[in-house]
Amino acid sequence: MKKKIGILPGDGIGPEVVREGKKVLDTIAEKYGHTFEYETGDVGAVAIDNTGSPLPDETLAICENSDAFLFGAIGDPKYDNDPTAKVRPEQGLLKLRKSLGLYANIRPVTAYESLLHMSPLKKDRVIGADFVVYRELTGGIYFGEKGRTKEGAFDHCTYSIAEIERIAHLAFKAALNRKKQLTLIDKANVLETSRLWRETVGRMAHDYPEVVVENLFVDNAAMQMIQNPKQFDVILTENMFGDIISDEASVIGGSLGLLPSASIGNKTGMFEPIHGSYPQATGKNIANPIATILSVAMLLDHLDMIDEAIDVRQAVNYSLKMGMVTPDISADSGYGTDRVGDFIVNYLVEGEEEGTRENISLGLSTII
Ligand code: IPM
Ligand code: MG
Repeated sequence: MKKKIGILPGDGIGPEVVREGKKVLDTIAEKYGHTFEYETGDVGAVAIDNTGSPLPDETLAICENSDAFLFGAIGDPKYDNDPTAKVRPEQGLLKLRKSLGLYANIRPVTAYESLLHMSPLKKDRVIGADFVVYRELTGGIYFGEKGRTKEGAFDHCTYSIAEIERIAHLAFKAALNRKKQLTLIDKANVLETSRLWRETVGRMAHDYPEVVVENLFVDNAAMQMIQNPKQFDVILTENMFGDIISDEASVIGGSLGLLPSASIGNKTGMFEPIHGSYPQATGKNIANPIATILSVAMLLDHLDMIDEAIDVRQAVNYSLKMGMVTPDISADSGYGTDRVGDFIVNYLVEGEEEGTRENISLGLSTII
C-alpha cells in the first residue's frame, strides 16, 4: 500500500522519540512492501520560534493531506509561567484537533505486570487492569464561547446530540471487541450537557444490546479509578472530564513512558505518545521511545495494517521482556532512546534470536 504520513516532532524529547517511531515505520514499509511518503512539519514552541505561529499553515496542510500523522510532543518551560501569553504551543494542538475534526481521543491503559512495582498504587489493585478511554476532543468547554465581562469571565460548555453520537458509536464498537462494558463518565446531577450525554448514550445502548452500560459521576469515577481500576473496560466521556481522567489513568500502571494515544475523526488520524515534552530529558538520549512506537502501532491499525500493528506490539513486548528499556523503566538499564529503537527494529527484521540484546549492546546488529 502507498500512504502519506505526516511527521510532527514538536518540542522537547518529541524529535528523539519520533525518530525512533519513524525507524519502525521504515522497517514495516520495507518488510511488508508498503510505500510511506513522509512530510515533516513544525508544531508547538519550535514552530513559534521559527514562524511566529504554533501551527503554521504548511504544517496544517501536511496533516490535511496525510492518511495519518505521528506527533511527538509540545510545550516549553518558557511558556509555563505565563498562561496569559497571546501565542502558546498548546494553541497549535487545539487548532489541529478542531481543523482536522479529530473528535475522538483514544487512550488505552495497560498495566504491564513487570512494571507494577512502579505504580503509585498497591500491586494487587492494578494487576490485570486493562481499559481504554474514549475522550471527546473537539467540543465542550474547550471550544465553547469564552470571554470576559466587567465582573468576571465565562467559558461556555455546549454539546450537540450529533457530537455525542459520533464518538459514542466508536466507544460502543470498541466495547464489542473487548469486555463489552461501557462506562459513561459525566456530572449529570449538575450539568445539562451531562444529562444530554446520558440520554443520548442511553438511547444508543438499544442498538448495542450486548454492551452493558454504566453511568458514573466524574468525582466518583476519579475515586474508583484509584480504588479499583480493574473494573473498567471502555470509558466514554466529554472533553474536560476526559482530560483529567485520562491523566489520572495514565499513571496507575506505573508506565507513563509506554502509553500511546490516537486522535481520530473522519479521515486522517493523529498518533502521539501521551507523555509530554519532558524538557529536562531533551537531547540526553534517555527518553522512552516505546509510547511513540506503540502509537505507530495504533497508526498502522488506522491504515488497516493489522498484521503490521501486531508485529510492532510483539516487538515492543519482546524488548520489555528482555529488559531492553530506557532508565525510566529500569534505572540501571544503561540503554538509550536510540538503542531501544534499534532493538525493536532488529526484532522486526530478524525475529527472536538468541543474543539479540547482546548484539545490539555491542553495536553488532546488522541494522545499526
Ligand atoms: C492533552 C493536553 C491538552 C488538553 C493541552 C496541552 C491543551 O493536556 O492532550 O490532554 O488539555 O487537551
Ligand atoms: Mg491533558
